[in-house]
Parts: sequence; structure tokens; C-alpha cells
Amino acid sequence: MTQIKNIGVYTSGGDAPGMNAAIRAVVRSSIYYGIDVTGIRRGYDGMIKGDMFPMDRKSVSNIIQRGGTILKTARSEQFRTPEGRKQAYENLKANNVDALVAIGGDGTFTGARIFGEEYGMPIVGLPGTIDNDLWGTDFTIGYDTAINTVIDAVDKIRDTAESHDRLFIVEVMGRDSGLIALRTGIAAGAEAILIPESKTDLQSVFDRLERGRKDKKSKIIMLAENGVAGDAFEVGRQIKEKFPNYDTRVSILGHIQRGGRPSCMDRVLASRVGVAAVEALRNGHRNEMIGLIHNEIAYTPFEHALKHNVEINPDFLKIVEILAI
Ligand code: F6P
Repeated sequence: MTQIKNIGVYTSGGDAPGMNAAIRAVVRSSIYYGIDVTGIRRGYDGMIKGDMFPMDRKSVSNIIQRGGTILKTARSEQFRTPEGRKQAYENLKANNVDALVAIGGDGTFTGARIFGEEYGMPIVGLPGTIDNDLWGTDFTIGYDTAINTVIDAVDKIRDTAESHDRLFIVEVMGRDSGLIALRTGIAAGAEAILIPESKTDLQSVFDRLERGRKDKKSKIIMLAENGVAGDAFEVGRQIKEKFPNYDTRVSILGHIQRGGRPSCMDRVLASRVGVAAVEALRNGHRNEMIGLIHNEIAYTPFEHALKHNVEINPDFLKIVEILAI
């Protein structure tokens, strides 16, 4: 058992529904095990500015159901520099913080890994991103809520698409990952999905539209941002050029995907990994992300958790093709 006295907790990168439930779990389980907790505002920026405060049981009351993050979040440029990290370390020491729980995604863990190695600070991470693009967990905190927000929106788009016989290109988030588009495309009954990871190019979408039912004019094409085929307007322009008879429209769902009350799945995931993170630090775990694989707590070194390792299940794409006939 490692003697940890004060855990600093922070959220960093894009916010995700369920981050508050994760903060709550870290704070309450620390207190349960007799450890003090320090909340750090705005991720690494707050560490560098010394923007931190003691948290108690009450500071996380009534937040489990709230979207966003009460600790606020940021993407810090300064933390990329050795000077920024040194300042952060000095502030943590001044506040008696001797271990950290980082809640975030790829960028958050990249920073945590470097910092942990440089200063020997025990750090574990919780996967908090709507993108689900981390290796070492079946799902990230926020993904379930985000995909439900997406299908809610696409169901509504489908109503108007059907009434007007229109083809809609719906662009969803995911940075460099198509996991939001892939799953919601299946759930929303999309005709085609364009994601960065697959070889699906616009030509195959054209082929599918050509082969598809001629009597059904309303169609949904799900597009992940940052794809090779271009953004939703570019895809729409090219479809219109090829199929002038289609009445096409574009809908970019944007940041509504990041907000809202976390789903039950996200709250439970956040609570489980939040408690496990504090227990992991006590048991000597370092530089690892705490995720859930096959419903069991899983520990993955930061360098393996980063998104370039995540693969797409090709069965999912096949399902879209089969079901779109
Ligand atoms: O990583 C989460 C995410 O929402 C991505 O899906 C998206 O590409 C990015 O953040 C948007 O970031 P910002 O809110 O800083 O524009």
C-alpha cells in the first residue's frame, strides 16, 4: 500500500458528459480512504497558475447528473514546455499534492505521461472524451451520452428528410476518429457512413446511391469530421454534382454532442473507474489509464491508451451496407 496523502484531480481537453460523475467518485472515494483531495481548475493551465482548492464531500454534491465539468477544462499550450511543467510541479508541491487523477483523452494523457516521467509524480487517468478513441477501455466517459444525443438529432432530421424527400449529410464529431459516426450510423439507419479509418470513399457512396432503391428519396449519410472526402458541404456538393435529382441538405451537429445530462451508462462507468483510480493509486499503480474491458476494471499504460491504436470493427461497416438495401 502506497502512502498517498493528497490527490489532485483535474479535467482537461474537450469536456464530456460524465466528467462530473468521475470527479465526484474520485473525491468521495479519496475521502472514504482518508486521503485529502485538491481540485485543480482548467486542467494543466490551472496547475501552472496554481488555481487549486481543497475539495470535500459537499463540493461534489448534486453534480452526478450535470453535463460539463465543475472543474472547467482547457487545452494548455504552456504545459507542452518544460518551464510550464516545472511551474505546475512547484504549485502542486506548494499545495501538498502528491498524486494526480487526470480525466480526459489523448492530449491529457500525453501530458500526464511526460509529467509523470519527469517528476516521478504518481498519476493515473480516467478516459473522459466523447470520441471513444482510447485503447484500454471498451467505452470512454461521455461517448454513450454523445451517441444518444446524435441519434436523437438524426431521428428528427429523418422526419423532415422523409417529408421533403431529401438526402441529408449529417456531420458528427470525433476529431480523427469515426467511432461516433460508425455507431450512430447503424443506430440511425444511415445509407452510408464516411469515416477517416475506413477505405470508404465518396465513390463507394455514389455506388451505393446508384444501387439503392430509386423509390426512396430520403436518405441519411453519416460523416465524421476530418474525413478524407472533405467536410459535409464538400461531400454535399459532390453528391449534388453526381445526382442532380437529389435534394440535398447538410446538418453539422457540432457542440451539442458534448453537452447534456450524462446517460446512466456514463454515470456508472465514471463512478466505477473513479473509485478504481483512487484504489489504483493506493495500490501503487502509476502512469496508467483506468478503463473497463468486458465489464472488468483494466489498467493500460498511458502510451498504449493513445488513440492511434484504436481499430474499427469492419463488421460494423458491413452491417451498414447490408441494412441499407
Ligand atoms: O475531443 C472531443 C472533441 O469534441 C472532438 O470530437 C472535436 O474534434 C474536438 O473536441 C473539438 O474541440 P473544440 O471544442 O476545442 O473545438
